[in-house]
Amino acid sequence: MNKSSRIAGLYKLGPAERLDVVRAFAGLEEEVEGLSLERADRMIENVIGIHGLPLGIATNFTINSRDYLIPMAIEEPSVVAGASYAARLVRSGGGFQAHSDEPRMIGQIQVLDLVDPWTARFDLLAAKERVIALANEQDPVIVGLGGGAKDLEARVITNSPVGQMLIVHLIYDCRDAMGANTVNTACEAVALLIEEITGGRVNLRILSNLADHRLARARCTVPASTLERDGFSGPKVVQGIIEAYAMAAADPYRAATHNKGIMNGIDAVVIATGNDWRAIEAGAHAYAARSGRYTSLSTWARNEDGDLVGTLELPLAVGMVGGATKVHPMAQAALKVLGVRSARELAEVIASVGLAQNLAAIRALSAEGIQRGHMALHARQIAMAAGATGSEVDTIVDRLVRERAIRLDRAKKILAELQDQK
Ligand code: MEV
Repeated sequence: MNKSSRIAGLYKLGPAERLDVVRAFAGLEEEVEGLSLERADRMIENVIGIHGLPLGIATNFTINSRDYLIPMAIEEPSVVAGASYAARLVRSGGGFQAHSDEPRMIGQIQVLDLVDPWTARFDLLAAKERVIALANEQDPVIVGLGGGAKDLEARVITNSPVGQMLIVHLIYDCRDAMGANTVNTACEAVALLIEEITGGRVNLRILSNLADHRLARARCTVPASTLERDGFSGPKVVQGIIEAYAMAAADPYRAATHNKGIMNGIDAVVIATGNDWRAIEAGAHAYAARSGRYTSLSTWARNEDGDLVGTLELPLAVGMVGGATKVHPMAQAALKVLGVRSARELAEVIASVGLAQNLAAIRALSAEGIQRGHMALHARQIAMAAGATGSEVDTIVDRLVRERAIRLDRAKKILAELQDQK
C-alpha cells in the first residue's frame, strides 16, 4: 500500500501527537530516544554534553511515485514549512522524479618525484588491474556486496606550486556506506604498489569530497495555475522564478545564496540521518564551481504547456550503514521514517528535498518576498523567548504580526497583559 504523505494540519498538533502520526506512517514501534551522554562519549573526544537541534517533519513529498515523510534537523524557522509547501505544489504536477549514479567515490593518491609523469601514467594504467585487485583485498565484505574498487584514473598536473605530479583516482563503489573509511583504507593499501609501478613517491592518500561519480538528480514540474497567489498570476510567478534562477546562473553572489537555500533542505536531512554534512557541503559547492565559475546547482525553465520545470544535480555521498547513521538513535529513527532501502534512494530523496527548498525560496522571493512568512515564525520565537507557553504563544504571535512590531519588549508586555487578565 502506498501511504500518503499529504498530512493536512500536522502543524496544528503538538509534538507528541505529531510523533504519533509519524509513527503510524512509518510503522515505528520502538521508542524514539535521543542520543545518550554515554553514547556521545564514544563518538567523539572530550565530550561534555549533547548539542540539540529541532527535528521537524516535512510532509507532502512524492518521489518516484512513492510518498515520504522527511525528517529535517535544523535550527532555522521556515525551512520545514517551505519544503512541505513546495512539495505540495510539486505533488500537483505528479511529484518528483529522481535518479542517481552508482555509489562510487574517488580516492586520491598523490604521486611526486616523477622523471616523466606521462610515462608513469602510462605504466600505471597498464597495470590498473593489479592495483584494483590489491585494493579489493582490503574489504571482502563490501566486495561481496558488489562494491569495491572498480576503476583507476590518472591525471597529470604539470604546473603546481611544487611542480609536476600525478594524481591517481581510485574509483570505489561504497554500496550503502558513505565510504570515507573504506576508501581511505584502500588508498593507503595501494600506495606502495603505485610507487613501485610509477617509480615516484606517494604523499596524500585520501578520498575526494568532489564525488562527481556519485551524483543524484531530481526533477519536478509545477503546473503554472498552482503557483497563482495573492494577486500574482501563475504565469507571472513562473516568469519570476525563471528570472530568479537566471540571476543565480549568471552571478556568483546570487548563486551562493540560491545554493544556500538548496542546502537548507539538503543539510537538514543529511544531519537528521547522521551523515557528514561538511562532506556534502564541500562536494556541492565544488560541483557548483566545476566550470571554473561558481553557478546555480539547479535550473528552472518553462515547458511547452507554460508550466514550471526544475532540475537539480549534485554529488550526494550519503550512507545508511556505519558511522553516526548507525550509532545515533535519532539517525536510525530518521532512516526508518524515511523508509529508504539504499544509500542511492536516500540520495534521491535528499536531492528532491533540495529542489523543493529552492522552489520554496525563489517562489516567495519572486512573489510576495521572503519576510512575510519568516516574520510569523520569527514572532513565534520571540513570543517563546518572552516566556509565553501554550495558547499564549499564538495570541502573542497574532498581535506582534498585526502590529508589525516583532520585538521582545512588546512580546513581554503582551504576555504581562494576558497574565493579568487571567
Ligand atoms: C535563507 O536561509 C535562504 C534564502 O536566502 C535562499 C534564497 O535566497 O534563495 C531564502
